[in-house]
Amino acid sequence: MELLKQRIVEDGIVKPGNVLKVDSFLNHQIDVELLNAIAAEFERIYGDRPISKVFTIEASGIAVACVVAQRFGVPLVFAKKAQSINLDGESFTTRIESYTHKRVYDVIVSKKYLSASDHILIIDDFLANGCSLDGLIDIAETAGATIEGIGIVIEKSFQLGGTQIRKRGYPLASLAIIEAMDAETGEIVFA
Ligand code: G4P
Repeated sequence: MELLKQRIVEDGIVKPGNVLKVDSFLNHQIDVELLNAIAAEFERIYGDRPISKVFTIEASGIAVACVVAQRFGVPLVFAKKAQSINLDGESFTTRIESYTHKRVYDVIVSKKYLSASDHILIIDDFLANGCSLDGLIDIAETAGATIEGIGIVIEKSFQLGGTQIRKRGYPLASLAIIEAMDAETGEIVFA
């Protein structure tokens, strides 16, 4: 998606440790017009699928997923990061280990909001090592929901999450794929 790539080049900041800061339009201040264009692109890609819900994880996935859900005319459900899991049988739970943030956390989704009758579109802002996405897929599969597609705004293909998830056969579309980036020069190379 050219508009998005342009914006990444103009306003993205490459930080040491392979982190791309996009706080000025995606992760802190949000350019809602850009999110509308992003949602239109996901509709172009997945609009022929029988999506019943958009599914993401808090926190930064919610904004983009919200606009996508509006576009598809369906609810958005987000997985919640929990302090402690209450194993009362009323929630789906999984454990996510983030290499990026060097921590492990539990996430939960109420069984009221995800079930085997759902056809979901998973949306997230970033795909790096793919631990968050693995967690969302795990919850969706436990619920018996059908994963109709996965939409990512920015994938860093030099980290292996995307490769592994495509190998597993899931339809995965990333709107900007970054092949390499350099914190010293600020250079960003797209696939
Ligand atoms: P991981 O396995 O390396 O941890 O990668 P994963 O794809 O699971 O992403 C983990 C978290 O790190 C996600 O946020 C993701 O949005 C964020 N992230 C990964 N790489 C980058 C990057 O280059 N730039 C930015 N800005 N974020 C990145 P999260 O854990 O879900 O937390 P939240 O920030 O959404 O609350």
